[in-house]
Amino acid sequence: MAAIPTAVLPTGEKVAALGLGTWTMGDSARRRKEEIASLRLGFDLGMTLVDTAEMYASGGAEEMVGEAIAGRRDEIFIVTKVMPQNASRRGTINACEKSLKRMKIEAIDLYLLHWPGSVPFSETLEAFVALRKAGKIRHWGVSNFDLREMETVVALRDGGAVGSDQVMYNLARRGIEYSLMGWCEQHRVPIMAYSPLDQGKLLRSSAVTRIAAQHSATPAQVALAWVLRQKNMIVIPKAGSEAHVRDNHGALKLHLTPEDFAELDRAFPPPGRKKPLEST
Ligand SMILES: NC(=O)c1ccc[n+]([C@@H]2O[C@H](COP(=O)([O-])OP(=O)(O)OC[C@H]3O[C@@H](n4cnc5c(N)ncnc54)[C@H](OP(=O)(O)O)[C@@H]3O)[C@@H](O)[C@H]2O)c1
Repeated sequence: MAAIPTAVLPTGEKVAALGLGTWTMGDSARRRKEEIASLRLGFDLGMTLVDTAEMYASGGAEEMVGEAIAGRRDEIFIVTKVMPQNASRRGTINACEKSLKRMKIEAIDLYLLHWPGSVPFSETLEAFVALRKAGKIRHWGVSNFDLREMETVVALRDGGAVGSDQVMYNLARRGIEYSLMGWCEQHRVPIMAYSPLDQGKLLRSSAVTRIAAQHSATPAQVALAWVLRQKNMIVIPKAGSEAHVRDNHGALKLHLTPEDFAELDRAFPPPGRKKPLEST
């Protein structure tokens, strides 16, 4: 079985660089059994980082994560998120308590603000610091924060401890390569790449399918191997079936050649200027 590469948090802690997303999981009672089995298979394969959010299925995805990790809590690195409308000092603490209850856990490994909202981040940060002191979260971070917002974060007292910025990144959405990626590398903040398959749309790209055929691989594996080429990046594809989890794990065995990268650059050119951060 291919070894899972790791990414390093600013504290030096290592986490699996290929993890599991959970958006839309928990929406359908009919799919629940299969989705839980998919998460468990991912954990067995070493994809031990799972990303969820209080928003997903209105807490239903967190409940599923709680069920999937039962009996193996210590092996799994759990990332979840507070919504900006709940991100006041008191609101963040309340939201965290509810997430802990839904997942039946004592502490969240990495707690993110889902996207920037109207509450000043300094207030959310106060809550993150208090939660960390109380042992209810181990690390904190942000999501959908662009360069200027990251600069504001690290300028705050305690802001230097930001554990990750979770942003959209895939072959078709390369905007962060222009400046955010370099900034994060410089500040040793790992990026967590969401929608690495562009929510499945990349699987229909002719360049991706052509390269996949040349390697006897699948389009999903090409799309994931391309993101995984980045050092210190965490990639969290969402797969709702065991077959898709196995397929995605197989990306670790695929080695794209310089010719493949050049062809993908022609099909999906890197950004030539700063663009607004893309999000779903
Ligand atoms: N912070 C944020 O604002 C934010 C926003 C979006 C997403 N996220 C996180 O990032 C995770 C991943 O992003 P995403 O869910 O938007 O999109 P994604 O991972 O790019 O794509 C998921 C889609 O691809 C399909 N898929 C997965 N593996 C496949 C395979 N091997 N072959 C064919 N199809 C495959 C899935 O179908 P099946 O379900 O049928 O397997 C699903 O329809 C989310 O689940 C969530 O945890 C965060």
